[in-house]
Amino acid sequence: MSGMPEQFAAFVATKDDDTVHREVRQWARDDLGDGDVIIRVAYSSVNYKDGLATIAKGQVARVSPLIPGIDLAGTVVESTSDEFTAGDHVLAHGYALGVAHHGGYAQFARVPADWVVPLDALSARDAMTIGTAGFTAAMSVQRIQDRGITPQDGPVLVTGASGGVGSVGVDLLAGQGYDVVASTGDTSAHDWLRERGASEIIDRLDTDDIRPLGKHRWAAAVDCLGGAPLAAILSTLSIGGIVAASGNTAGLSLETTVAPFILRGVTLAGIDSANLAIDERRALWARLADDLRPSVLEASDEVGLDQLEDTLDAILDARTRGRILVRLDHD
Ligand SMILES: NC(=O)c1ccc[n+]([C@@H]2O[C@H](COP(=O)([O-])OP(=O)(O)OC[C@H]3O[C@@H](n4cnc5c(N)ncnc54)[C@H](OP(=O)(O)O)[C@@H]3O)[C@@H](O)[C@H]2O)c1
Repeated sequence: MSGMPEQFAAFVATKDDDTVHREVRQWARDDLGDGDVIIRVAYSSVNYKDGLATIAKGQVARVSPLIPGIDLAGTVVESTSDEFTAGDHVLAHGYALGVAHHGGYAQFARVPADWVVPLDALSARDAMTIGTAGFTAAMSVQRIQDRGITPQDGPVLVTGASGGVGSVGVDLLAGQGYDVVASTGDTSAHDWLRERGASEIIDRLDTDDIRPLGKHRWAAAVDCLGGAPLAAILSTLSIGGIVAASGNTAGLSLETTVAPFILRGVTLAGIDSANLAIDERRALWARLADDLRPSVLEASDEVGLDQLEDTLDAILDARTRGRILVRLDHD
């Protein structure tokens, strides 16, 4: 007996021709989709991809109606898997969650056991303060470390620094001893970024005149912008440098040359948090609870389901800062 109701509150996005209708309404347990584990969701979060999943031109949602929310954390209420039992604290994110499988913007979710990560040393709230964006930042840092870049190699650039991936990236890199240069278009975020460990703050990168090779500026970079800023980074990485590229808020296309690759041996490392294998995902979350734990575990904002619509619009317009929690209230 799980105490799970037959109906519960959910934020639902329904595609209707060229528009997406978004509302908070009751959702039936039987309509949650397949999975071995039912989770009473305590927190989800707002990521850029969640914004895209709720607009017609976002091209992210693959089913309609959809409960979005690409990440969630809470407590197992039912499980047919040997790996989890009722009462376990867990999180889930990635794979089809919140895009083709109902996600975290509901009081309950049902997911396959091999999407689930046990939560021991982090609370559900801490886990979603990190969320998909912070996990992506952690994957980026791990990739830079795997490449052998150490703090002695020189400064590491973080772009989109006031956003979710960027702000956690600044924090994690500083915690690992790197000299972090934060690039942001948000002039009011400078002190906030210094509190997270940025040693220098610069404006968004100048992309007017990108030459095949520019001055050696960065030993490594964490980039979630793509487009012209990524091209500017590639041409200014030092010899043997690496950019961990995860996003496209500045554009999907990349216009560059082979010069940085063949004359400086740089690496363009793609970061795909959605499809990371579950064992690697669990191992990286264990690091996030340990040596990679962020120094600041505070969300910039916390919203309920009824405030989600405005917040999803705000993240698409770059009007949000840092990480935003979604709180699921239960009676
Ligand atoms: N590959 C993956 O697994 C993965 C996982 C998570 C996220 N992502 C992607 O990473 C990106 C960031 O996600 P997020 O949740 O961190 O979003 P976010 O909180 O909105 O952060 C994005 C930041 O990008 C900057 N920005 C926005 N529009 C821009 C523009 N037109 N030109 C230059 N800079 C711009 C802003 O930073 P400043 O104002 O500080 O400059 C903004 O805060 C998205 O593209 C998302 O889809 C990918």
